[in-house]
Amino acid sequence: MLNGKYFIFTYGCQMNVHESEKLAGILEERGYEKAGAPEDADVLVYNTCCIREGAEQRAVGNIGNAKPIKKKNPDLIVAVCGCMTQQSGVAENLKKKFPFINIVFGANNVEFFGEYLDMFLRQRKYQKNILENKSYQSSTKSVQMVRDDKYSAYVNITYGCNNFCTYCIVPYVRGREISRPAGEIYKEVKELIEVGKYKIITLLGQNVNSYGNDIVGNKTTFPELLETIANFEGDFELRFMSSHPKDLSDELIDVIARNEKIGKAIHLPVQSGSNKILKAMNRNYTREKYLGIINKMKQKIKGLSLSTDIIVGFPGETEQDFEDTVSLLKEVQFSNAYIFMYSKRKGTIAEKMDGHLPIEVKRERIHKLLTIQKEITNNHFVSLIGKVQERVLIDGETANLYLGKTQCGKVVKIKKEKNLKLGDFANVLLTDYSGGNLYGEAK
Ligand code: 5AD
Ligand code: SF4
Repeated sequence: MLNGKYFIFTYGCQMNVHESEKLAGILEERGYEKAGAPEDADVLVYNTCCIREGAEQRAVGNIGNAKPIKKKNPDLIVAVCGCMTQQSGVAENLKKKFPFINIVFGANNVEFFGEYLDMFLRQRKYQKNILENKSYQSSTKSVQMVRDDKYSAYVNITYGCNNFCTYCIVPYVRGREISRPAGEIYKEVKELIEVGKYKIITLLGQNVNSYGNDIVGNKTTFPELLETIANFEGDFELRFMSSHPKDLSDELIDVIARNEKIGKAIHLPVQSGSNKILKAMNRNYTREKYLGIINKMKQKIKGLSLSTDIIVGFPGETEQDFEDTVSLLKEVQFSNAYIFMYSKRKGTIAEKMDGHLPIEVKRERIHKLLTIQKEITNNHFVSLIGKVQERVLIDGETANLYLGKTQCGKVVKIKKEKNLKLGDFANVLLTDYSGGNLYGEAK
């Protein structure tokens, strides 16, 4: 029976994208179907993010846009969830600002959205449910998911974070780290492989390398988990994100290097190239240690492509500290870098540090770094011309081209010479890079 339509706004990281897949599953289980536009929805869900101020502002602005929709459709149900609502006092402030909100819950109990919705429908009363940590019940509850992507699927392996990088709000909103039992992960991955269409499986965690650290007794480590899955039968690529350099072991590098099915595009956030700033960020590694890991990976992993996250303008960052980040970027030659301006987050240690920088300085530094990285990215793709890219996923086509994606997610336009099917992997000889596009021929 069709109950109505839903529309989900998702902000932030892959973890949120995946949690929205759970929210969609919960709604479809209850007879709702996806609306083409928010205006057509009977249930609007805002799955928020608070990693930086901009993400919060975007969500708040869009929640405000629900007001006229609610005016037209007084039965509209408005639900707000995700990281933003986990912060103390935010749920109350949102309700005050937007009295039309009906349901608020946090990132740690998305799996129970259905129960909150049912309760609202029975009582027609405002529902608010926020948990400080992910509960055992939430982490083990099996929910149907409506997966967003045709060929790629996410699988949670850990929830929460224990690292307390001084700039970061995540440990406060997502609580302490817990690992899903390996058996449950294997079961979910096997089911995905059996479906047949999922070619890319991405294991998700705030810090995947610390998988298992919270399990007492007989535990599986992350490299063991990864290698076990890589040995499952089937044609798929195994990815993971994100890694923390502080506990990226030699064993993990060896596992990546020797298992063909493990993706060779590795995302390893460095945040800064300055030892002073890394220490102030509580990252627990030095520039030298990071570069040591990168060099080992470059030596051992064939077809490696590296990406990273960088924060510019952390409190106390001098010109010299910034130059250290510039030189690290130049030395590593990442294929891509996600560069952010430091954003003050309430309740974090960095919020109270001295030396907060003016926005103009942060803007100037991000601009400079983005320009440098653009050239590095460009050079990286030019350097691939004449080489074969393995396992390019064919995920689209036009009249005379196939559209593929490299392991690092870059689009390749492939001449339609060989017969390929959507969802196939192909080895592609790259022939050109122009206008930001790679071109190639299937081998
Ligand atoms: N300001 C700017 N960037 C941040 N990140 C996390 N917290 C902040 C903050 N307060 C960035 C980091 C992290 C990525 C997901 O977001 O680079 O790796
Ligand atoms: Fe935030 Fe650091 Fe945890 Fe990543 S590892 S979520 S940056 S505290």
